[in-house]
Amino acid sequence: MLSNLQPQKADKIIQLIQMYKDDPRENKIDLGVGMYRNADGVTPVMKAVKTAERMLWESESTKSYTGMAGEPAYLEAMTSLVLGNSIGNDRVAAAHTPGGTGAVRQSLELVRLAERNASVWISAPSWPNHRSIVTYLGMPAKEYRYFDYETRGVDFHGMMASLADAEAGDAVVLHGCCHNPTGANLDLAQWGELSDLVLKKGLIPIVDIAYQGFGEGLDEDAAPVRLMASKIPEMLVAASCSKNFGIYRERTGLLIAVAPDSATKALAQGTLVFLNRQNYSFPPDHGARLVSMILGDPSLKTEWMEELKAMRESMRNLRVSLSTALRDITGSDRFAFIGAHRGMFSLLGATTEQVEAMRDKYGIYMVSDSRINVAGLSEKSVPIVARAIADAGV
Ligand code: LMR
Repeated sequence: MLSNLQPQKADKIIQLIQMYKDDPRENKIDLGVGMYRNADGVTPVMKAVKTAERMLWESESTKSYTGMAGEPAYLEAMTSLVLGNSIGNDRVAAAHTPGGTGAVRQSLELVRLAERNASVWISAPSWPNHRSIVTYLGMPAKEYRYFDYETRGVDFHGMMASLADAEAGDAVVLHGCCHNPTGANLDLAQWGELSDLVLKKGLIPIVDIAYQGFGEGLDEDAAPVRLMASKIPEMLVAASCSKNFGIYRERTGLLIAVAPDSATKALAQGTLVFLNRQNYSFPPDHGARLVSMILGDPSLKTEWMEELKAMRESMRNLRVSLSTALRDITGSDRFAFIGAHRGMFSLLGATTEQVEAMRDKYGIYMVSDSRINVAGLSEKSVPIVARAIADAGV
């Protein structure tokens, strides 16, 4: 039986982690997988998380099962972090999922249950796992134009033109903020126009907001999702605590289903519970409990928000440093987009050969589509990376 298996295509981001590990060069630079790193190259446990872990260790008296949709305190704290007061609670169903990827997977399964023939529209380019999961689930994947390789900004006109071809009931995977891999984002007015199109065509948005807090701020990054929720009757939101709480390995995510009314909310909530039960039964608890402790304690919440702000500012400073260094080397402003992009990533627009040349000559690791993780830079490595980008002829 096992010999009948077909070799699976490796995920290019996960493959890169191993390639970087296997490279013996001491001066290698990791701009690959999307994890925050501080100036020492370390992905730290955030202070508020450490404190909450200590408190939890002292107070936890049982490891009995939690709720099938997760702990109510977590669901409440996280839906409020994402949706704010944009819509009433009577429209919001939610379930804790293992990581943001779990939420994306469950959201697609939910769409498939409700709309058998739905196609799923994915931005070109997108996080590779979006398409991979859609295809694995046997759903038709379609692409909408998103990135303008000339300006390295959003091709909004192209995006709207592509989505004009979508059919009622099709799902559209959107990046709520900090687009992965490009770093180029719609402005709020464009989100308004997009919401009108989604409404007019009867599409189902699946908004992936894995990087909330890494762009402009927690509320600012959630503004598009909140706007959309206030304008359209139904949408799905996949949130993650991996990045903004730095609890990557705890697999802490959330799937929100925004329903048009309370009766449909109950139906959606029952389906979220069903999907959890089918796929892994009770969701993991540790990360979610830390998050609800932090969000429920004003002083821990303040400490967390301050540390998150420092992380966000450090990424923005590194963006400015890199685009300035590139301006100095190339004598042109063509890399100003790096300073204008938001979130953890920027797509440089380099060819695969240029990416390979930077890896071979300088030991710089970025995804083959030329996505860099800005948080993998440091003030020390910026001049080296800038020189490599210019040398490669990007
Ligand atoms: C990334 O895009 O690098 C992260 O979301 C990590 C992952 O799972 O791919």
